[in-house]
Amino acid sequence: MARDVLRGLCLPAKAIPPKYFYDERGSLLFERITALPEYYLTRTEVGILRANRTALAEAVGDGGCLIEYGSGASVKVRLLLDACRPAAYVPVDISREHLMQAARTIHDDYELPVYPTCADYSAPFTLPEPVQELRRVAFFPGSSIGNFDPAEADAFLRGVAEVVGSGGAFAIGVDTKKDPAVLHRAYNDSAGVTADFNRNVLSHINATVGADFDPTAFTHEAIYNEAAGRIEMYLIATRAHTVTVAGTPIPFTKGERLHTENSYKYDPDEFVAKAERAGFDCVHLWQDPEGHFMVLALRAR
Ligand code: AVI
Repeated sequence: MARDVLRGLCLPAKAIPPKYFYDERGSLLFERITALPEYYLTRTEVGILRANRTALAEAVGDGGCLIEYGSGASVKVRLLLDACRPAAYVPVDISREHLMQAARTIHDDYELPVYPTCADYSAPFTLPEPVQELRRVAFFPGSSIGNFDPAEADAFLRGVAEVVGSGGAFAIGVDTKKDPAVLHRAYNDSAGVTADFNRNVLSHINATVGADFDPTAFTHEAIYNEAAGRIEMYLIATRAHTVTVAGTPIPFTKGERLHTENSYKYDPDEFVAKAERAGFDCVHLWQDPEGHFMVLALRAR
């Protein structure tokens, strides 16, 4: 993390990888974001999953190993577990505390073997030994694919195709391109939770890497870059100052932007073409009536 963070802070346009949002507090703040009235993504996706759960359960099938990428509190997977019967569940998340707690709850509620795997899912990870021989099904809800740059997203999709293997299923939720005002509101909520979430990455760096960021010296900004089809999130330094990160001085000018996240949005055709290039066929594509979000059931060729 120290190497990653310093590399980003030494770029001419400073940046921090978004995966470092998710320490314990960051994961809790993100959960609060998902309940905000402006953040339509979660409730819209849950509505799509609910409305199509029978077909989704059929696409997923019974008896396989359900691998959830970035499982967090393991809330959405319940919609799948209520409708189908996998032989095992493998939640994969970077935030250990959160992961273990969610794994225990799912195990107790569904009497299902659960193998929590603490890993950064953007890199290859090893599946637990007891599930190695099972048929594999992957689940990646929440449009977290949008936090990868397009080339990283392609590599990620190819990686999932390899993990599930020929005939394996993959259910993924993806946010769509839409009215910029709707997108702007979703990432600039009136309660300021997204701003806290954004600034919390600095506290996480302070605690983990050894740094003296003053989070109150930065303001939150999220803009929709329509040409690139993405929300860009920044922290803006409100005064000129120098921060020491793992012993390295990092100067900030007043107004300087620190890029903390991209959240790409995709048109349905655009995303299907992307999945096909990565080795999947699209079995189903479901949307809400407004077309604000999509869930795809894919099958690896
Ligand atoms: C996790 N990810 C899909 C969220 C998003 O919408 O890109 C993270 C987030 N950033 C600000 N609000 C939510």
